Amino acid sequence: MKARPGGAFALGLAFACASAAAQDAGGKPFAPEQIGKGSALYETHCQTCHGPRLANPEWAKDLRKFPREDHARFVDTVTYGIRNMPPWGDLLKPDDIDALWAYVVAGERKK
Ligand code: HEC
Repeated sequence: MKARPGGAFALGLAFACASAAAQDAGGKPFAPEQIGKGSALYETHCQTCHGPRLANPEWAKDLRKFPREDHARFVDTVTYGIRNMPPWGDLLKPDDIDALWAYVVAGERKK
């Protein structure tokens, strides 16, 4: 009787490899660590409303469509909130908000 090793192996999906082309509006590339930090913060604080990994928000805005040149509007909205968007200024430091920005701009870009 021949031994038949079960051949199924799972393909580990490499998590979000940030493209080297990812840049902020000033042309400065985001550090992968910054994008990673933003991704973790997003999961904790934002995805319940804005959708897992930026996709398919049920009722909040689709952040994939947020204008990438509008960093100031992002920081303001996240810090102070707007209508049903809660303010985060008490909880998140400017560094955290910039990490979120890096994630929104560069973290889940369609190829
Ligand atoms: C309680 C649900 C909820 C959570 C949690 C939430 N948001 Fe929002 N967010 C909204 C809603 C609703 C809007 C649309 C507000 C409007 O324009 O009426 C919005 C809008 C925004 C906008 C503005 C989009 C635009 O086009 O101007 C940004 C940026 C944003 N959210 C980022 C975030 C980030 C970053 C987090 C996590 C720190 C977060 N949101 C967490 C509900 C939420």
